[in-house]
Amino acid sequence: MTLDITPSGQACGAEVRGIDLRDEFSTDTVAEIRRAWLDHKVLAFPDQHLSDDDLERFTRSFGPFGDDPFFESIAGHPHIAAIARAADEVAPIFADSWHADWTFQEFPPDGTCLFGKVIPPVGGDTLFINQQMALAEMAPDLRKRIEGLDAVHSARRAYSPDGLYGDDDSDNARAMKIVVSDEAYATQIHPLIRVHPETGSPTLYSTFGYIIGIDGMADDEANALLGELYAWQTREEFQYRHKWEADMLLMWDNRCVLHRATAGYDGHERLLHRTTIGYNPAVRVALDA
Ligand code: SIN
Repeated sequence: MTLDITPSGQACGAEVRGIDLRDEFSTDTVAEIRRAWLDHKVLAFPDQHLSDDDLERFTRSFGPFGDDPFFESIAGHPHIAAIARAADEVAPIFADSWHADWTFQEFPPDGTCLFGKVIPPVGGDTLFINQQMALAEMAPDLRKRIEGLDAVHSARRAYSPDGLYGDDDSDNARAMKIVVSDEAYATQIHPLIRVHPETGSPTLYSTFGYIIGIDGMADDEANALLGELYAWQTREEFQYRHKWEADMLLMWDNRCVLHRATAGYDGHERLLHRTTIGYNPAVRVALDA
């Protein structure tokens, strides 16, 4: 099969046509999608009429399911979460800050799939930034200062009882089923610059938010450096703005992009079903040898 791929013309992202994602894929088709995913980092498949079972099967073509610690799953599908906002909701938008998914885990997910079910007529775009490009174009001085550093990741600012979705958020009615837990206080170290395990390309990994410090560095110094890094890695020239349609499937490479939700659809419902493509040791290139 030859996929019909149209790059977004922005810093990453491509639209893919010429395939029905309900079909059973051959190994060659999976490899072709995977190649496009690695090349473009974010793939959008419009006009897909997927059931939840189809979404799960598609996800499993690219790795094991990831572990989603702070969402409730939808009934009957333990690996699907609803990214949901009701038309009359007034709580702050979920995931409205730059992040890569679950980087506080020891083995963070390789990717995420998001399927548009109810899409508002305005707003609600998802933004992405290409962290490989942000690193490649970084000033040598900043790069030198972050090279070799390990960042401390934690979910505490979002999912702990005193985090964004914790006790202070409990008066906000949300359609989204967020699970707040003391487990969010745990920390995990990852290098600030990592080699993408599947392509071998160096990339920035994650950002302020899930990154709460730099291993072995005083907080003041670390926060100043992370602030400088944030200003660089989120620049507009590294971004792709994704506009949603109902029945569109999006998959992104969590290892080299950041993403964030956006507002602008007050008064309208928005509903997407999300699966996580877990860490897949089988696809690592021989970097560890
Ligand atoms: C997410 O970060 O999973 C949600 C993105 C979105 O709602 O656009």
